Amino acid sequence: MSPPNPKKPHLDRRDLLWILPSLVTGGFFGWLAWRTYVIHFTKAKVREPLWRAGPRLRAAALDELPSVWRFRYFEYRYADSPLRAVVIRLPQPVSGGLSVGEAHFLALSRICTHQGCTVNFVDNPELGAIAYNYRTDHPFLGCPCHFGAYEPLQAGKAVYGPPQFPLPRLRLEEEGGVLYATGLEVPFRPLER
Ligand code: FES
Repeated sequence: MSPPNPKKPHLDRRDLLWILPSLVTGGFFGWLAWRTYVIHFTKAKVREPLWRAGPRLRAAALDELPSVWRFRYFEYRYADSPLRAVVIRLPQPVSGGLSVGEAHFLALSRICTHQGCTVNFVDNPELGAIAYNYRTDHPFLGCPCHFGAYEPLQAGKAVYGPPQFPLPRLRLEEEGGVLYATGLEVPFRPLER
């Protein structure tokens, strides 16, 4: 039998006792860093919308949204199918929204751009912070499936959780004290790429 080579590294069981836990710990923190990066820094920017004309459907009467952060769910159409949507009165104008005098509105699709669940208006930011881990001082839109959060004051931008893309906007017009949706932003994610 040849004698052990002193230059060749030799691992014994005691080495494995620290190497394996170190690998597991390093892997966990690597995964955590990657996940934090994805959650916080890979969200698509909201750009000026490109509209595709659609049917003209009632979203809400102005007097149904008498103050800031009032909202109303309504139904629009996508490819002859019903589409859940929401119109929100905001404290400031945003890209793709509509201002009527001093009142500012934004209409968004409620289809989550991650995997298509229906997002909800989260009107209690404190409860929202617990449920969605997204901290803000105003209402936002949250997806109950994987706790994605979208920011109305950034025109529907995905701000937390797995969604990367903003909620598509719906074009609004006002006539006779009523807000109408008249088209969709394209590409209409997640149904279009
Ligand atoms: S489907 Fe909405 S966060 Fe996953």
